[in-house]
Amino acid sequence: MITSDPKELDLLRQSGRILAKTLAIAQAHVRPGVSALELDQIAEQEIRSSGACSAFKNYSSMKGQKPFPASLCVSVNDEVVHGIPSKDKILRQGDIVGLDLGVVYQGFYTDAAVTVAVGKVDIESLRLIETARIALKTALKVRAGDFTGDIGQTIEEVARQNKFNVVRELVGHGVGKSVHEDPEVPCYGKSGTGTKLVSGMVLAIEPMINAGAWKVIFTDDGWTVKTADGSRSAHFEHTVIVTENGCETLTNMV
Ligand code: MF3
Ligand code: CO
Repeated sequence: MITSDPKELDLLRQSGRILAKTLAIAQAHVRPGVSALELDQIAEQEIRSSGACSAFKNYSSMKGQKPFPASLCVSVNDEVVHGIPSKDKILRQGDIVGLDLGVVYQGFYTDAAVTVAVGKVDIESLRLIETARIALKTALKVRAGDFTGDIGQTIEEVARQNKFNVVRELVGHGVGKSVHEDPEVPCYGKSGTGTKLVSGMVLAIEPMINAGAWKVIFTDDGWTVKTADGSRSAHFEHTVIVTENGCETLTNMV
């Protein structure tokens, strides 16, 4: 969505704040032995007690796709995004785990994700996580008048500099009035191409970076996306409002 309405901006900010707090709480519960389902239940509980709803539960992006059964996507190691939380998905020391959450508050949607280490992990995984985090941070320097291609180019450059590859079959997106809106916001691209960013545009910017090749596979649970070569993947995401001076991040953890 694109808005300059103070009331809408206020509700978007509230939605983002609830999301950020919930994600921080879920993240704080990550430890060896915890199940993905426990993290999902913690998130669900926090969203509800904040007077909001999960944006992901029962969501389906395409016609005929089976609804996502949970509030939190939990994606472990070679799972890129959209991992379904279950009680059997137990986090182990040395894993990396992506937590992706969507919140709807009084009709306003925000979307954010982090990737974290479970206990002590190898240095290459830490470098992967850090690269994805910095790719997002750097991409958030765009402002009104720039293009979605500027975001993509930045993310891809940061990944390449670190000898990693960006996912090409999944993209960031507009958000605000629903989970996925136009425009698409790829993790690759060329500066000055794509959709021009305007003030008040609400975007979910989400670098997905693989330690190995860029290719992914869509698994037959209908949701989980994995790297094709089995390498690990890291994902960070913020919902932002584009302004003349840069991005206002709605989902920063405080
Ligand atoms: N954050 C995810 C994305 O932008 C949304 C996942 S929808 C869900 O693709 F239903 F899988 F949770
Ligand atoms: Co998203």
